[in-house]
Amino acid sequence: MMMVLFGPPGVGKGTQADLLSQKYNLVKFSMGDVLREEIALSSPVATELEKYLYRGMLAPDDIVLGLVENFLLEHRGTDILFDGFPRTINQAENLQKIVARLALLLNLALEMHLSEEDLIKRLVNRTYCPHCGRIYNYITNPPKTNGVCDVCGYTLEKRHDDDEKIIKKRLKVYEQRTRALTDFYKSQNIYDRIDANGSQKEIFKRISEIIDVHIDKR
Ligand code: AP5
Ligand code: MG
Repeated sequence: MMMVLFGPPGVGKGTQADLLSQKYNLVKFSMGDVLREEIALSSPVATELEKYLYRGMLAPDDIVLGLVENFLLEHRGTDILFDGFPRTINQAENLQKIVARLALLLNLALEMHLSEEDLIKRLVNRTYCPHCGRIYNYITNPPKTNGVCDVCGYTLEKRHDDDEKIIKKRLKVYEQRTRALTDFYKSQNIYDRIDANGSQKEIFKRISEIIDVHIDKR
């Protein structure tokens, strides 16, 4: 199975991707994490990526698509969950081409929805572990010890782009560049909408029900 999880910044894609990848044994590809890793490792494209990520703009399609193609080549035969990819119609069309070339199939595209007010609330209160990637929230999902990762004991950090001005930019970019994926995937009959209001557990249950129906149909 191959599925895409998309939705605006802060809607809970990364949180749900972690839970779903464990439950359904999916290999997770979180594009934001992969790009931040390129920056952290000072890869040849790191300086260019910084310019986009730190301003809340989308990274260039050629970089993103190159990373996806390599990932798919390395993970043939495994079930895959994309978090935050694709984000433009061009990326979605190219994903279809890569998938067809590799004789694979994209089965589901799920879009998570939440009000802008709640998205901002979630993002300004987010903290994460730069070592293991675990996501926390000071209000809804705090670490056991303030500022310390429950899993690996590293010091938690705030993401560069979780500044209110950049958050607003990211939300705008979502509307301008990514929202069109709704109709794109509806027209392919693989789209479903997820209400992202509620606890992490409730949303996990909602998404799991959709995936289970899909698995039963196969
Ligand atoms: P990316 O890292 O993907 O950022 P994003 O899309 O802005 O989404 P976030 O990761 O901020 O939010 P999320 O939906 O994962 O929410 P989370 O689970 O953390 O991308 C970053 C940048 O990389 C982009 O801006 C762009 O520059 C670049 N990029 C990435 N993909 C690209 C692409 N395809 N093409 C080009 N450029 C690309 O949850 C948020 C908070 O809410 C956390 O604190 C969490 O604990 C909390 N929370 C989660 N669920 C709940 C709940 N149910 N109730 C209460 N709180 C909750
Ligand atoms: Mg994320």
